[in-house]
Amino acid sequence: MASVTFDNATRLYPGGTRPAVDKLNLEIGDGEFLVLVGPSGCGKSTSLRMLAGLEEVNDGRILIGDRDVTDVPPKDRDIAMVFQNYALYPHMTVAENMGFALKIAGVGKEERAKRVLEAAKLLDLEPFLARKPKALSGGQRQRVAMGRAIVREPQVFLMDEPLSNLDAKLRVQTRTQIASLQRRLGVTTVYVTHDQTEALTMGDRIAVLKDGLLQQVGTPRELYEKPNNVFVAGFIGSPAMNLFPADLVEGGVKFGSKVVRVEAGALSRAHGSEVTVGVRPEDITVAPSDGEGLQVTVDLVEELGADGYLYGHSEIDGKRTDIVARVDGRVHPSAGETVTLAPAPDHVHVFDIETGERLTPAVATV
Ligand SMILES: Nc1ncnc2c1ncn2[C@@H]1O[C@H](COP(=O)(O)OP(=O)(O)OP(=O)(O)O)[C@@H](O)[C@H]1O
Ligand SMILES: [Mg+2]
Repeated sequence: MASVTFDNATRLYPGGTRPAVDKLNLEIGDGEFLVLVGPSGCGKSTSLRMLAGLEEVNDGRILIGDRDVTDVPPKDRDIAMVFQNYALYPHMTVAENMGFALKIAGVGKEERAKRVLEAAKLLDLEPFLARKPKALSGGQRQRVAMGRAIVREPQVFLMDEPLSNLDAKLRVQTRTQIASLQRRLGVTTVYVTHDQTEALTMGDRIAVLKDGLLQQVGTPRELYEKPNNVFVAGFIGSPAMNLFPADLVEGGVKFGSKVVRVEAGALSRAHGSEVTVGVRPEDITVAPSDGEGLQVTVDLVEELGADGYLYGHSEIDGKRTDIVARVDGRVHPSAGETVTLAPAPDHVHVFDIETGERLTPAVATV
């Protein structure tokens, strides 16, 4: 097993105007499960393919353990990759698919059979070893693709959206299985997804990319409680964090008629007289009608049993702004009502309106 280091790793595709991956610096610990997440086109697959050796590194280096692999061919990197489409060989059985890479590598028949059986047991694939891929369900095919990576006993697993072909329920089950399997095997893993829920539930740490640039790396909790900038704030969490402009006033920021106290040092760093305020839906409460806060017209309340989400809008800076707040699932305002919403004290994130960078320290729970 080994750590992985991206050291200023850059990929500029031929004819491209800016790098698809731009000076990526990232250290992944031995045995760690790191999730690379970000919107479509942000450079996730490119980063993974650079690590796999399938994409040229135009600048910087990539290390596996202490070894600089920047110019090492893919087959000599001791990694195994699980692709989105699984890439199983249709004419081979499950067992042959799983053992194929070992055969190519010259591993003997007995050792091959032993490793395939071990992996099949781990993945509940024993009953299917003699079947062809076309006679398997989507979830079973996914497990064969995993098995094919496991039998190679690589130093690093690379997975590029391995769950995207599964239906929603199976995706949830499988992500738990992959995460627990990875912990059991202890193999360093880089996992790519565009789904922030997958990232939050699976990763030891998450790296958020946007436009080829690393935005933040941290544990799921750190990213949730202390997003570095407006992009990470809006990307991590569902429903997303409410983000809107607010006026700076003495000692705090204006949240409708309420002044929310913010550490003075934070505000002194702000460019201009406005900031971007961020509040998660669960950190907003419905204030008494004569209380202070933001006047919001309720458009819809989505009931989810115990909880509900209030979707409403307010007028901020003369612009209609949508607001989401978590409410009680049974007792809540109705559509058409106007309510006063206020943020929970110490749960307001403040960002610079120009740069989008975080100004406030972590929220109270960190
Ligand atoms: N072979 C290529 N040649 C030129 N440009 C490419 C090539 N592959 C990817 N790109 C560009 O590089 C950028 C990053 O692509 P990449 O495939 O890494 O994104 P991604 O984050 O994996 O997106 P998705 O979530 O859609 O899979 C995109 O702008 C894409 O258009
Ligand atoms: Mg991709």
